[in-house]
Amino acid sequence: MTLTTTSGSRAALVAAAVAITAGAVVLAPAAADAATTLGASAAQSGRYFGTAVSAGKLSDSTYVNILNREFDMVTAENEMKMDATEPNPGQFSYGNADRIVNHAVARGMRVRGHALAWHQQQPGWMQSMEGSALRQAMLNHVTQVATHYRGKIYAWDVVNEAFADGSSGARRDSNLQRTGNDWIEAAFRAARAADPGAKLCYNDYNTDDWSHAKTQAVYRMVQDFKARGVPIDCVGLQSHFNAASPVPGNYQTTLQNFADLGVDVQITELDIEGSGSAQADAFGRVTRACLAVTRCTGITVWGIRDTDSWRASGTPLLFDGSGNKKAAYTSVLDALNGGGTTPPDESDGCTVAASVNAWNTGFVATVRVTAGSAAINAWTVTFALPTGTTVTGTWNAERSGDSGTVQWKNTTYNGNVAAGQSVEFGFQGTGSSAGLSPTCVSS
Ligand code: G3I
Repeated sequence: MTLTTTSGSRAALVAAAVAITAGAVVLAPAAADAATTLGASAAQSGRYFGTAVSAGKLSDSTYVNILNREFDMVTAENEMKMDATEPNPGQFSYGNADRIVNHAVARGMRVRGHALAWHQQQPGWMQSMEGSALRQAMLNHVTQVATHYRGKIYAWDVVNEAFADGSSGARRDSNLQRTGNDWIEAAFRAARAADPGAKLCYNDYNTDDWSHAKTQAVYRMVQDFKARGVPIDCVGLQSHFNAASPVPGNYQTTLQNFADLGVDVQITELDIEGSGSAQADAFGRVTRACLAVTRCTGITVWGIRDTDSWRASGTPLLFDGSGNKKAAYTSVLDALNGGGTTPPDESDGCTVAASVNAWNTGFVATVRVTAGSAAINAWTVTFALPTGTTVTGTWNAERSGDSGTVQWKNTTYNGNVAAGQSVEFGFQGTGSSAGLSPTCVSS
């Protein structure tokens, strides 16, 4: 049995939403009031603007000048990770991380700690551990590192990237996960005990689209933690975007829904591959989405110049390789100063995601329709089925056709979907389920 996921195309929806919301303009403050750096502009609304920093670049004057001028929060790009801070069991190494923290603290910048527990960038000795010994080593690491930085960290990414990609909504398999499903909450409790003053965050990527199974799974975990009193204060959306993974149409909905659980949300590793006005527009949309959510407390970009990026060829940052401000910079600054239009993608509409259980001659598809930030009254989902594929049954929707382009409309009882909520329908087919890519329109 294979499991395949497809997610809906949003191009038409976004175009429609642009038309609907065009003209919804946020009033800009008088020009004389507009701040001229990212940090100062964000501070006007009580937010921060941060960047990832590499200790090795603190001797680069162009880099440091931009860092000191523009940013009021820093994240160590690699220096606080498990392999850097505990290279040998019980032997801790804080030199490079301390350089970054000291640079920040001396200049009144705050620090996001990244990351206490992660399946990647574990030291070699930890990679080969398992079971209760690994659990104990992980908890000791969390305790020691959080204690070392006690009082100096605004927020810790306590656990990073613990959920699987795709449609499963499951935890990612890892040596840490195999120590037991409660490893995440155990890490949070240890972090709280070590540094009660730090906000404790769960941080992940591909959690920006509200309709994605991974986003839903993280949401349910946070909801569960809040219900059971597990100490969690914030959710970090890494927000690494490119053409294959653009800023989703429901991004603000995702931020708001997490915030509504009673946690802060932070955009923790923002970068958007591209150039020119398209890139600038995307950065502006992300910034305005954060500003529109009261508990979105700040944005961190994952590096300063394009050449500093982990994916430099995608030129995904706000400064070019020479340290010049890009159009993307101006777009973010303008947005922080209250300029521009509200996000065009956050009004009406629906998104759709399908998970498929397939066998050699057929499949069952479970299809989830999610409303955007406004309630919808009716929806239509369209699939272009592969040649030779035939639909043999449908539940919880009304179908038109059984092969080629097939549409499913809501039934009498599931057309009304509240903002941000979902309904599901399903169908069974014979033949291939390869490459299914549904789209959704609503009214
Ligand atoms: O410093 C060594 C250098 O001495 C050596 O010659 C070279 C050879 O490969 O490696 C250098 O270390 C690299 C390090 O970046 C510094 O450049 C590592 O190999 C490389 O694995 C490491 O990549 C980092 C990556 O996390 C590791 O997973 C990236 O810099 C860092 O930007 C990236 O950040 C992650 C976040 O932590 C979590 N979210 C995703 C994000 C992007 O992948």
